[in-house]
Amino acid sequence: MTIAHFLRTFRAALPRARELALATVVLSMGCGDGQSDATRSSFYPTDARDEDASPDVVAVTLRAGHSEHELVPGRASTLQTYSGALPGPLIRAKRGDTLHVHFENELEQPTTIHWHGVRVPNAMDGVPGMTQPLIAPHESFDYSFPLPDAGLFWYHPHNDSVGTVAAGLYGALLVTDPDDPPELGDDVVIVLSDAKVDATGVLVPRSPDLAAPLSDKEGNVVLVNGQVYPTLSVTNGRRQRWHVLNAAASRYFQLATPMHTFVQIGANSGLDEYPVEVEHPVLAPGERLDLLITPRGTPGLALDVNSLPYARARSLEKTPAQALFRMEFTDGGVASAPELPTWPSPLTAVDTASAERVALDLTMSDADGALQWGINGAPFAEHAAVHAHVGTTQVFVIENKSPFSHPFHFHGFFFQVLDEDGNATRPLSLRDTLDVPPLSRRQLAVTYDDRPGMWMFHCHILDHAENGMMGMVHLEP
Ligand code: C2O
Ligand code: CU
Repeated sequence: MTIAHFLRTFRAALPRARELALATVVLSMGCGDGQSDATRSSFYPTDARDEDASPDVVAVTLRAGHSEHELVPGRASTLQTYSGALPGPLIRAKRGDTLHVHFENELEQPTTIHWHGVRVPNAMDGVPGMTQPLIAPHESFDYSFPLPDAGLFWYHPHNDSVGTVAAGLYGALLVTDPDDPPELGDDVVIVLSDAKVDATGVLVPRSPDLAAPLSDKEGNVVLVNGQVYPTLSVTNGRRQRWHVLNAAASRYFQLATPMHTFVQIGANSGLDEYPVEVEHPVLAPGERLDLLITPRGTPGLALDVNSLPYARARSLEKTPAQALFRMEFTDGGVASAPELPTWPSPLTAVDTASAERVALDLTMSDADGALQWGINGAPFAEHAAVHAHVGTTQVFVIENKSPFSHPFHFHGFFFQVLDEDGNATRPLSLRDTLDVPPLSRRQLAVTYDDRPGMWMFHCHILDHAENGMMGMVHLEP
């Protein structure tokens, strides 16, 4: 018996302390909705329960409230969560389904839900004061919309996002595509995030001070599907499809696994034009990646999946390397992954010949001695909407004039990234969020379909967004 094998059987026989603690916490709260942490299998997020029997409709109830989770060994942290689960319940649907979400607000502050990446009708976009009124404490709201695209999307509040997302209010929505080639791999949803807690587990607010070190904006406990350093079972040679989301308020993740590389097959929605091998995929806040990995290792071996040191600002500290979770090889022997399938891509390069160019500078300015994030030098409050018309294409020319990275997110539409000559970069890929590195330029082409209304764009580092790096497009019929 190898040491690794011994350790593995030892751990299997001994439920981890935190699982016991979670079970106790959940029992004492009397969770009865079948969505509690106690029912989850070890690695995966809790599944939302589909309350509708028809095959093309998914109906779920989400309740924003407080629940306790063990982030520091032996301590209970009171977080804000959806339906008591961290991350919120994973909603599963297939492309073309209709999603109904009955939402109840049991928080003491008003809130909304934004469906990040989903091409929703404007009234379902969850931006308070713009697309819907705030949902008051003890009030409810019914979200209902079709799911026209496949991908890993996510949901989170859209007011006081630093306070609420960082406190645990985020969940994933996986929309699968029945037309995907078979045998891409076993689906694994991986929600990355972090939490800022003190030694006794009490949630610490993120520093609102712009000049505070970046580490004050990031959590000190890194979470994978709401857990600290969980274990994912893998089988030698059996391919997995990792749908990865970065739901952290401001932390970047750069994935690395010893002796393994990833194949990126998609970004924010659907499959990319063709697969590309990536050694160290980076996920900025708000981003998702669709990655294949073929685990190789003998039974009993355990390998860490790490996040590499990463600098999200020029000449400032890098976040240290961090073990995210471990892959543990089962006794299942060697499966041989089928050849990587190819697919005919439905994507075509966007035509920008008659597109209007819109300059959006990401700026850091001085507002009476205090730092101020903004777009084109002005904070959101002073921002005039960009005008656009249904059926047209615009190119956002995004110039990051600051020494910080900013993940640019546009609500409700996908864009294609263009190169300096204005041609779509290959492989063609659909995105709603793209990192714009310090002092660099990115061009994004958006074609507007028939969903007029006010649509936001902003940096998805939530303290930057709250501090003014937001704007909006007024899409007119
Ligand atoms: Cu996830 Cu307005 O964003
Ligand atoms: Cu930013």
